[in-house]
Amino acid sequence: MQKYNFPKDFIWGVATSAYQIEGAYNADGKGENIWDRFTSIPGKIFKNQNGNVACDHYNLYERDIEILEELGIKNYRLSISWARIFPKGYGEVNQQGLDFYKKLINKLIEKGIQPAVTLYHWDLPQHLQDIGGWANKKVVDYFVEYAELMFKEFGNIVPIWITHNEPWVVSILGHAWGVHAPGIKDYKTALQVAHNILLSHGKAVRLYRNMSLKGRIGITLNLSSTYPETDDQKDILAAKVYDGFMNRWFLDAVLKGSYPEDMLKLYSEQRILPEFLEDDMKIISEKIDFLGINYYTRSVLRYDENAYPLKVTMVDLDNPKTDMGWEIYPEGLFDLLINIHKNYGGVDILITENGAAFNDIVNYKGKVVDDYRIDYLYRHLTQAHRAILDGVNLKGYFLWSFLDNFEWAEGYSKRFGIVFIDYKTQKRIIKDSAYWYSNVVKNNGILD
Ligand code: BGC
Repeated sequence: MQKYNFPKDFIWGVATSAYQIEGAYNADGKGENIWDRFTSIPGKIFKNQNGNVACDHYNLYERDIEILEELGIKNYRLSISWARIFPKGYGEVNQQGLDFYKKLINKLIEKGIQPAVTLYHWDLPQHLQDIGGWANKKVVDYFVEYAELMFKEFGNIVPIWITHNEPWVVSILGHAWGVHAPGIKDYKTALQVAHNILLSHGKAVRLYRNMSLKGRIGITLNLSSTYPETDDQKDILAAKVYDGFMNRWFLDAVLKGSYPEDMLKLYSEQRILPEFLEDDMKIISEKIDFLGINYYTRSVLRYDENAYPLKVTMVDLDNPKTDMGWEIYPEGLFDLLINIHKNYGGVDILITENGAAFNDIVNYKGKVVDDYRIDYLYRHLTQAHRAILDGVNLKGYFLWSFLDNFEWAEGYSKRFGIVFIDYKTQKRIIKDSAYWYSNVVKNNGILD
């Protein structure tokens, strides 16, 4: 028998986001956001589904907190819906929206569960999209106004703050590939959006420092370790370019205060370089307390002369995959953690998402026996443990996701939860993986 002990004070949690679970899309004065709008366009989402009801967490949050309690989970990552607070994105506050988060956060704290709050998990108020969205610098200031109110209201009771979730996904999937809201397809806009989001992150961190709050603040990046398909120099370069595109562009900006030279050159050759001031980079690299990373899979790359704008193609290997079609590659998490540790001065890291979608079924006993998910979690956690032994300053792990939920363009077809949702009845069924994870949390590690 082997025991994988995690460090004392290691933060164990689960994660969700507002649009994916709350529902109540037009309740109590909430404004429309870009996902409300995007999901209403036929053909954008699997079976034209939307987050109008989702897990109805807005109404069932007390039941959900009871489940967290029952499982002994002491940290919960959630996001705030900007349009519930400011229906137009700025100006007048919607008191009922604010009250919901007061009830939610106070209830968590009352039950001994620490909230980790993400300010922006993709649901921009539609009114701000109408003035250009993240491509418009004004939105940066509106975000800071929103952050200020949240810090004033909750800054003393929320110990962990995440400014943004996955700026790469917001910019590339939302503004270059057009598969996420707001559905734009233009690389130059996408990179401008990424820059403005990073700027808003830096400004919010500065504000947080100026308010002398006691908690920790950081940003969450979705990162993927990259590997060349072959030893060919061109494939090796392709892997480096993709690493620059997905990882280093964001990591270097936040942790080094500059964009990587090779990518600046490539983007300017392709005429997609965003406009920015040198001073922006100082703001973006305002010191953070931790780096949040979301890891699901690795990327294997091949050189491809015709692929715009990077000249790289992702290679689909014939290896075991999750229901998302993502290769299961736990060693990629280890490689990623080691690389960040080495290249970015041993920064404190929180894994703010890791988990897997599988095609779960409720069996004849009314149970969900999701051994495959336990296997995925086991393999990733043991790699995280290995990285800690090798000196990585990994401080916590939030499993994605607490509940099955609205998986963006995939609608409800993909289940990431450790709690099953029957969307017809809103019944919650605790999956085997939740009981397994509950033991990991209780033991502060894994007993083999
Ligand atoms: C996002 C989540 C999403 C998950 C699985 C991350 O990109 O932060 O909202 O559900 O990955 O796709």
